[in-house]
Amino acid sequence: RKTIQIAIDGPAGAGKSTIAKKLAKELNFLYIDTGAMYRAITYKLLINHIEVTAHKELVDLLTSTNIRFEKGDILLDGNVVTHKIRSPEVTDNVSKVSAIKEVRMTLLKIQQEIASKNNVVMDGRDIGTRVLPKADLKVFLTASVEERANRRYQELKTDPSFNLSLRTIKNSIEQRDYEDENRELDPLVPANDAILIDTTKMSINEVVEKIKENL
Ligand code: C5P
Repeated sequence: RKTIQIAIDGPAGAGKSTIAKKLAKELNFLYIDTGAMYRAITYKLLINHIEVTAHKELVDLLTSTNIRFEKGDILLDGNVVTHKIRSPEVTDNVSKVSAIKEVRMTLLKIQQEIASKNNVVMDGRDIGTRVLPKADLKVFLTASVEERANRRYQELKTDPSFNLSLRTIKNSIEQRDYEDENRELDPLVPANDAILIDTTKMSINEVVEKIKENL
């Protein structure tokens, strides 16, 4: 393999995307947000009113779905959905969708293909354990649930249409973590060879520096 792969996993709101994006920029690597891919599928199922239990419809939808990244945006069947996939409705349904085998198999293929052709910083839940088991560096980011809920709250607050309470966000994060950690396929768990970083009391820069020390 000629490409360099950095895997960043962890629970919701641990700072993965912020850290991964910054690290990728500094290293001039491609940043791949795999959570955005699961969100894009979830969004498409929602707008097409397809239930996760409607197996045939779901498989048909997967075969006719195109997901790609372009200049910091995620494109679903050619349309930019970067912001639409962050809605509370998508957020609260994504863990159920991502527990489905065909969904994971479809996205796994795309993720591995991208990482075989580019130097990547890839973030998600199963990057170190499944997608890139031979990654050059694996990082597992954590933070207390209070801190993670608070970060998400501060981030969402900048949106004028935002109307969720801190409590609601914390509940949604806890629910999603529970589902991600307890699903049968590729649950959220640190890889044996991952370095663990608790970011609760760390700044973004401190975390990025700590990761670079391990490169
Ligand atoms: O990273 P983000 O919080 O946007 O991910 C949304 C959801 O996508 C996660 O809660 C999880 O259910 C799913 N996911 C996954 N495997 C990944 C990345 C995300 O199952 N590699």
